[in-house]
Amino acid sequence: MYLEYYGLKEAPFTVTADTNLFFKSKHHQEALSALLYGIKERKGIILLTGEVGTGKTTLCKVLLKEIPPEFKTSLILNPYFSPTQLLRAVVEDFGIGLKRYSKLDMVYALNQLLMDTFLNNSNAVLIIDEAQDLTPRQLEQIRLLSNLETERYKLLQIILVGQPELREKLGLPSLRQIKQRISVSYHIFPLEKEEVEEYVNFRLELAGALNVKFEKDCFEYIYEFSKGIPRLINILCDRALLAGFAKNKRIIDSNLIRLCIEELK
Ligand SMILES: Nc1ncnc2c1ncn2[C@@H]1O[C@H](COP(=O)(O)OP(=O)(O)O)[C@@H](O)[C@H]1O
Ligand SMILES: [Mg+2]
Repeated sequence: MYLEYYGLKEAPFTVTADTNLFFKSKHHQEALSALLYGIKERKGIILLTGEVGTGKTTLCKVLLKEIPPEFKTSLILNPYFSPTQLLRAVVEDFGIGLKRYSKLDMVYALNQLLMDTFLNNSNAVLIIDEAQDLTPRQLEQIRLLSNLETERYKLLQIILVGQPELREKLGLPSLRQIKQRISVSYHIFPLEKEEVEEYVNFRLELAGALNVKFEKDCFEYIYEFSKGIPRLINILCDRALLAGFAKNKRIIDSNLIRLCIEELK
């Protein structure tokens, strides 16, 4: 591909959620602080929403790296399970082995583990990504997990991560019980206009770009196209590098960017 041509060690604009490429934008930093605060203060249920491609999954993975290693954690990326299977996935992620996985056994074992964790001054965190896809029954199961508490403290911190529809879903009258328990909530907005250039150069630099540069006037168009959504920035910039390679240009200018935008429309 174009990697060698530009002197790149790796593809700078992959669309996987890679924590090594994490750019600390203003909003991403705020989101991370909100999540860490909610965990530290044992807030119970925490909500993180954002449009597709704004970096929610990336943030979940960064969060796992920031959480003290002794904390128990479980990250559910695609919650397409029945409520009982969801419970089992959590139990297994927390390292609990059981003879029988009946609901009662699982809840009992989980409660024990959470109590021990709490008594050891540690904490337990469950992160559920794509939570906009959770059914009301699954959400109810999650609410029951958040009932595991001492008189004063929540034993399990639950982070629900999802697209903006998740907020609408939680607005349903039948889900008001879980909604009332959300005590920390953050909606992640895309990158600010002036962050786009920094973001692109940050990713290029990490990928070891020696022989490639985006001209300054590109960023206006990149922002206009992406509205600051990292996934769209990545798709466009990847396309631009490919086009530059095809045209033998190591300097990406705004004409090339505009051409790529036309192609992507
Ligand atoms: N803060 C960030 N730093 C670096 N890359 C990011 C950041 N936010 C998003 N991305 C990139 O954008 C793409 C989409 O991110 P992702 O976490 O999958 O978004 P979401 O889960 O919100 O749909 C990925 O390629 C990811 O690497
Ligand atoms: Mg995601």
